[in-house]
Amino acid sequence: MNSYSKIATYYSKFSSLFFSKKDILRFIEKSFLDYGVKKDCKILDIGCADAKLLFLLKRRGFKKLYGIDISSKMIELALKRAILKGIKLYNLNFLNFTSRKKFDAALCTMDVVNHIPKKDVFDFFKNTNTILKKNGIFIFDINTKEYLQKLGKRKFIVKKFDEVLFRWKFNLISRYLKINFSVREKNGENVSEDVYQFIYDEEFIENTLKDCGFEVLKKVYDYRLPLKTKFLSKLCYVCKKI
Ligand SMILES: C[S@@+](CC[C@H](N)C(=O)[O-])C[C@H]1O[C@@H](n2cnc3c(N)ncnc32)[C@H](O)[C@@H]1O
Repeated sequence: MNSYSKIATYYSKFSSLFFSKKDILRFIEKSFLDYGVKKDCKILDIGCADAKLLFLLKRRGFKKLYGIDISSKMIELALKRAILKGIKLYNLNFLNFTSRKKFDAALCTMDVVNHIPKKDVFDFFKNTNTILKKNGIFIFDINTKEYLQKLGKRKFIVKKFDEVLFRWKFNLISRYLKINFSVREKNGENVSEDVYQFIYDEEFIENTLKDCGFEVLKKVYDYRLPLKTKFLSKLCYVCKKI
């Protein structure tokens, strides 16, 4: 289970290393404009972590924002600010999430679907379909196979911020990448957690989306590029509930 419980307090620091939230936000806003998601629409961020994306959307004028995350620590860290901003957060496994209200859009960015084991992907997409209104928009990403294989070969990455040492150790095992994330604090204290990223091919993802009642509207790489090159890490989908 990818719970991000021990590393939650460090997430805001290291997430910006791998991706720019501003690029993601720009892509989401453009997709919302293209597919009719307005500022007063209900938007759910699945796997919202520190709720950073929701706070950015709030600043951009989106009014009805909701987030869900399986990590109680992530929700705890974001909750106070979320309440002040009128953003509703739930601490739940999305697979168990039910809601009487239906959403106009669901977001699932920066490695959420990647963490869902293959046996659960159908249920995950099906539940997303269930909580959306008809024609609702679903935006998510998966890692490209090439990127995970590259990380597997690289073995590890080490970075230092403010005297705190961050290390990602990669172990590629046929259908998934095991990532051991560890932090060494200034005082020598160590925190470490394993997370898993599954390797999915486009055909599997697209067939499952279709079986769950989605049409793929758009595919881009790294939230901005229409064509694949070997240096890209993420394949991003915009889908519509049909
Ligand atoms: C890499 S973070 C991505 C966070 C966020 N979407 C972003 O753009 O920064 C993945 C998050 O998904 C959450 N997550 C993983 N599986 C989940 C599930 N089944 N239900 C809800 N949250 C889940 C994890 O707890 C973690 O906070």
